[in-house]
Amino acid sequence: MLTVTPSGQACGAIVEGVNLNKTLSLAELQAIQEAWWEHHVLSFPDQQLNDDDLERVTQSLGHFGEEPFFEPIDGREHICAVSRRSDEQAPLFAEAWHTDWSFLEHPPIGTCLYGITIPPKGGDTSFIDQHKAFEFMPDDLRSRIADLTALHSAVLAYSPEGAYGAGDSRDRSMRIVYSEKAKEVRPHPLVQTHPESRKKMLFGCLGYIVGIEGMAEEHATKLLTELYEWQTRPEFQYHHAWHEHTLLLWDNRSVLHRANGGYDGFDRLLHRTTIYAEQSS
Ligand SMILES: [Fe+2]
Repeated sequence: MLTVTPSGQACGAIVEGVNLNKTLSLAELQAIQEAWWEHHVLSFPDQQLNDDDLERVTQSLGHFGEEPFFEPIDGREHICAVSRRSDEQAPLFAEAWHTDWSFLEHPPIGTCLYGITIPPKGGDTSFIDQHKAFEFMPDDLRSRIADLTALHSAVLAYSPEGAYGAGDSRDRSMRIVYSEKAKEVRPHPLVQTHPESRKKMLFGCLGYIVGIEGMAEEHATKLLTELYEWQTRPEFQYHHAWHEHTLLLWDNRSVLHRANGGYDGFDRLLHRTTIYAEQSS
């Protein structure tokens, strides 16, 4: 029987009693979706999944879509490897808080990450509950951001001049493809209503958010920095400690996430898919 156990932290829950290497029943799928919308990050321990299984789980929750700056693994169009060799010299990937591909016109609704090779220590993935960050925000700050439109762009990460651009370490095992396309800017409301749970939330943070529509850069940076300091408070966070054969599924609208290091000297490999709603596929 499918059980959902909250993590005890700001968000996140463990889901047990379901096999993801077979087609889910309608009842199982509904239970997973409801838990996903309530807890935002679900971990499914002890799942023996191959790439076909990972694709099937992804498609049970939505559609495949664009992977703008990653090259997929050999033989698969929609699976990317999040990898790091034990002796890799490049700076850690994705150590800054972000929402996956939030600079797209229709960002992914979720992300699946499956642990294949997991170091014995370090490498946690951290999350921030964007509903709680909004709910508990001081009234003053909430009133100042209420109707703002954030400008999202991958320029700082995936442009030729970005962190993963031409100047990045050549000693990186991840297949990152930087391009001028990363300089495109797309607007999204800073405060949004989750389409399923109808709960209000913040969407994104400073980083992929590079400005505020109609606001001078200096003023926007100051406000976004103040907001970032609020969003990233420890009480809004959940830290996922990895084990091999765990599938992690997060709601990309409801949380921010970031990678953590602490596993130098160990290989690490996870397979990742992103989940899109119908209109963006
Ligand atoms: Fe990410």
